[in-house]
Amino acid sequence: MGGERGGGRRERVVVFTGAGVSAESGLKTFRDAGGLWEGYRVEEVATPEAFERDPELVLKFYNERRRKVLEAQPNEAHRAIARLEERFDVVVITQNIDDLHERAGSTRVIHIHGEILKARCVGPCQHVLEWRKDIRIGDRCPSGYRLRPHVVWFGEPVLHWEEAEQAVRGADRVLVVGTSLVVYPAALLPFLAPEDSEKIVVDPGEPSLPGGVRVVHIRERATVGVPQVVEAWLAGKSVNFG
Ligand code: APR
Repeated sequence: MGGERGGGRRERVVVFTGAGVSAESGLKTFRDAGGLWEGYRVEEVATPEAFERDPELVLKFYNERRRKVLEAQPNEAHRAIARLEERFDVVVITQNIDDLHERAGSTRVIHIHGEILKARCVGPCQHVLEWRKDIRIGDRCPSGYRLRPHVVWFGEPVLHWEEAEQAVRGADRVLVVGTSLVVYPAALLPFLAPEDSEKIVVDPGEPSLPGGVRVVHIRERATVGVPQVVEAWLAGKSVNFG
C-alpha cells in the first residue's frame, strides 16, 4: 500500500523545487528566455560585492522581486505538493525565495537559498526579520546595522544544508520540479537520496541530470505533471509514464 513503511511509519517524500514550479504563478525563472538574469548581470545584483558596491541597485532588484511574489498566487503544482501530506511525511526543499509552497499549505519547507519576505542585518547580531515591504537604504535592525534581503547570493553558503541533507538521505521518494540543476551545491541534494528511492523529475526542459541515476523524467509543465504524480502516489500507484 503506497505511503506506509514497516511499523506503520509514513513514507518520506522529498520534493526538491526550483524557479520552474513558480513559473505558472507568473514569477520569472532565471535561465529561460526572458529570465531574470536577462535583465541583469548576476555580478551586479546577486553577490556580496555588488551589495557593497551599489546597495541601492541590489535593494531595487530584490524590492521588485518581493512585490512580484506578493502579487503572485500558488498554482496547481504547489497545491498538489501540499496534498502529498495527506499520506506521506513530506519535506519540501526549495531553491525558491517565494512563499508559494507555504501559502499552498505545505507545512515543512526548507529554503536553502533564503526567503524574500525576510530581511537580515549585516551585523554580528544576525537578525532575521519578517519583511514584506521594500528595504530602503536607511533601514536598520534593532541594533542599528544595515538590512539586506535574507537571500543567499553567489559565493555565499546555502542555508539549512544539514537539515536538507538529512531529509533527503531518508527519502523513499524524490520529486524534482522546475530546476535546471546547474547551481551547486543545491543541485547535489536530490541525488543524495537512497539508491532505491523512486526519483521523478517534472520539467518541460532538459535539466542537467547526473549520469547513472535512474529517474523518470516527465516532460510536462509543473501544473500538468505534478498533479499526475501526486494523484498516482496518493492512490498507491508508482509512476511509470512512458
Ligand atoms: N514547469 C516546470 N518547469 C519549468 C517551467 C514550468 N512551467 N518553466 C520552466 N521550467 C524549468 C526550466 O526548464 C528549467 O529547468 O524550470 C527550470 C528553471 O531553471 P533556472 O531558471 O535555472 O532556475 P533554478 O534551477 O531554480 O535556479 C537555481 O540559480 O540563480 C540561482 O539562486 C538562483 O535558486 C536559483 C538557482
